[in-house]
This record gives sequence, structure tokens and C-alpha cells, in this order.
Amino acid sequence: MSKKVSRRQFMSYTLMGVGGFMASGMLMPMVRFAIDPVLQKKDEGDFIMTPQKVDELTEMPVRVDFTIKDRKDAWYKSDVSNTAWVYKNGDAVIALSPVCKHLGCTVNWGGDEKHPDQFFCPCHAGRYMKNGDNVQGTPPLGPLDEFDVKVEDGFVYLGKTKPNTLV
Ligand code: FES
Repeated sequence: MSKKVSRRQFMSYTLMGVGGFMASGMLMPMVRFAIDPVLQKKDEGDFIMTPQKVDELTEMPVRVDFTIKDRKDAWYKSDVSNTAWVYKNGDAVIALSPVCKHLGCTVNWGGDEKHPDQFFCPCHAGRYMKNGDNVQGTPPLGPLDEFDVKVEDGFVYLGKTKPNTLV
């Protein structure tokens, strides 16, 4: 038994097909744009060169400022300034995050004159040992994060932060 398609049905199927094709052609770029950040490959393994020479490091932590060029945050690209506390432990180079584990203020080495050999957070008097371990009885509840470190051509390169492995 043959089913005949009327002229009206044929026209509406054709228009729906062509309309759907054109709509998807317009929508695809919009959808692609909306989810673009999700599709981007992350550069998380990248190390950033710092101005710190390894030869100049001692066992005393020094503040090292560095810039992450063209950091892509969703649709925006910008240069981001970052800081680390860097020192030598034997032959190893240690780099700690300055971000306090209490409420995120910036810690300083030797900022408290009563404890010149510790990191000090001025916001609520949080303290950390040189390896980043939080001093019991002060507000921070965890140790400072640690940067991935590599040395190349005599300079310190820093990667992403990770939970402290020294404590
Ligand atoms: S934010 Fe550092 S002690 Fe509170």
C-alpha cells in the first residue's frame, strides 16, 4: 500500500529541513563560543621563569615576584602577578605559596619580631614554620602550599602549587 505525500506535506518537510539546517549553522558558532573555555587545553604543566638566580639563594627565604604572561581566564587573557617564598634546603630549591591558609592574606618571612625565623600572617597573627607547617595555636589550620620547582640555566622556574610535601 503506497502512502502518497501531498504537495503541502512535501513543502512543509522541505522547509523544516532547510530551516533546521540554517538554524544549526547559526547556532553552532554561538554554542562553540559559549563553551570555548571548557574546550581549551589547560597549560597546567607549564613552568614560569622567575628572575631569581639559584646561585643567589641561601637557606633564608626570599620573596620572588614573577609574572604569568597571557593567563587565560575563560575569555580574557591577562598578565598575572604572583609571589613565592623561595629558599635552599641543601641542594633542593623550595618555593612556598604566600597565601595564608586561614583566610588568604599574604604571609611574610620574619614579619613577627618575636618569631624572626617563621612566616607571619599580619591579618590574624597566623604563623608558619620555615617548611610551611602551621604553628599550633595560631589561626591557620593547614600548612602553606608548595610550588613545583625546576632549575634551568641557573634560574628558578615555578609551576603550579600543590599541597605541602615537606611537613
Ligand atoms: S588570614 Fe592569615 S591568619 Fe587569618
